Amino acid sequence: MSVIATPVSGARRYALVGLGVRSYLYLTALTGPHRQYGDLVGLCDSNRGRLARAVEVAARQDVRPAAYAAGDFERMLDETQADAVIVTSPDYTHADYIVRALKAGRDVITEKPLTVDAASCRRILAARKASGRRVTVGFNYRYSPARTLAKQVLASGAIGRITAVNFEWRLDTHHGADYFRRWHRLMRNSGGLLVHKATHHFDLINWWLGSTAREVSAEGRRAFYRPETADGLGLHDRGERCAACPAFARCRVRLDLGASRALREIYASNEGHDGYFRDRCVFASEIDIWDTMRASLTYENDVVVNYLLSAYAPGEGYRVVFHGERGELTMETTERPFVEPDGAPPRPAAPEETTLVVQPLFGRAYELRIPEAIGDHGGGDALMLAHLFGHAPDPDGRAADDRAGAWSALVGIAANASIATGGAPVKLADLADGVDRPDPEPAPFGPQAAWRDFDAARYPFMADARQISRSST
Ligand SMILES: NC(=O)c1ccc[n+]([C@@H]2O[C@H](COP(=O)([O-])OP(=O)(O)OC[C@H]3O[C@@H](n4cnc5c(N)ncnc54)[C@H](O)[C@@H]3O)[C@@H](O)[C@H]2O)c1
Repeated sequence: MSVIATPVSGARRYALVGLGVRSYLYLTALTGPHRQYGDLVGLCDSNRGRLARAVEVAARQDVRPAAYAAGDFERMLDETQADAVIVTSPDYTHADYIVRALKAGRDVITEKPLTVDAASCRRILAARKASGRRVTVGFNYRYSPARTLAKQVLASGAIGRITAVNFEWRLDTHHGADYFRRWHRLMRNSGGLLVHKATHHFDLINWWLGSTAREVSAEGRRAFYRPETADGLGLHDRGERCAACPAFARCRVRLDLGASRALREIYASNEGHDGYFRDRCVFASEIDIWDTMRASLTYENDVVVNYLLSAYAPGEGYRVVFHGERGELTMETTERPFVEPDGAPPRPAAPEETTLVVQPLFGRAYELRIPEAIGDHGGGDALMLAHLFGHAPDPDGRAADDRAGAWSALVGIAANASIATGGAPVKLADLADGVDRPDPEPAPFGPQAAWRDFDAARYPFMADARQISRSST
């Protein structure tokens, strides 16, 4: 099932595998604002309908990638002469596509998580080394202006050597529920939220700290997305999925597949091809991932980290406190302040709000001005695309390779292993034989970092800092 590819510019050639909602970030970039930097030459999916829809969306912009069924992946690489493959298929398929692309001599850009188990991390890194090609992981969270600024503040020495981090992330019932509806809801597919979702968070911590975790112990519970909750909410008559569910009108964590054009065209219309239901009941007993997770980490540079993730919060956002030898940095973001009584996001949409406050030892707290963020994921998506497609500088080291992908996924993988043994500590090195670590970063991140003065005049972010009277914590 292929059509003739007509590259638009003779630039780097990309093939895209896995054509669900996330793939459209890359597809629309390469058929729109970034088309002069890359040619979208191939599309691949196991679902015929989604493949046809992606071809049609590209064609609307006069871009005509060739279309291939999942079984024809290697043929796609041959025929389209793609230089790089973008992997946006489900997590449990990443490792195979990454390794096959590398073996075929292609570079890879993959969505997070790099993969879902330790053996696949080892397999991917070995294949990358043998191939001499490059793997980039789409850690868009690093690119949001606020999180990049946090990295700059930590690197400046404003709070001195970092000793401890408290990190709490809340997913609300609108967004968090989505992981309990489809393939993510089974451990074997996604590694649960400690891998699928928290790989973003552990990558941020690794990048912020310039280090990797040495040891993890963890606990996981399923407190909300279970049959007892639905019964308690009076949803005794619920069905297996939201479509035609007798309790639909009374359920506030329902998904209406007819509600948007994207949901209809990408998912509802293509169920007949593979039986992929995007709207399974979030209270089903077959779900085996956790919705309440905590982990306790010790880093190679001796920083200790407390981590908490919940997936049924009344609002969405996060709070991170970095403790340092000469002060604290607190970052707080409200992505969505509340969910409406009918389960929908606020109407009208509430703007995302972030504060970044430094509280120096022996001094007043000051708040930093955060550069404006435009677009999804705190502005990270757009900035990441600009970098990925090769025409934006990366002074803060935001691009992440397979080592960064592996060492963030391994934290969740180790946390799952700890949960399976009732919370015993797990050493990451025991899972990661042969998996190179990202390059460690210099002071002020290392345990030997010397106390030194922080010269505020050297740092542009201090120019707009505003003294405040409250404490940062
Ligand atoms: N960075 C982010 O913020 C972010 C956000 C959303 C999703 N993601 C990631 O993007 C990926 C895709 O997520 P999604 O929500 O679009 O998923 P999805 O289920 O909506 O889409 C996956 C697509 O892959 C296809 N597929 C399934 N098995 C396949 C196979 N073996 N070969 C080829 N195609 C196959 C499906 O038919 C579907 O079209 C996931 O890895 C997810 O973690 C990242």
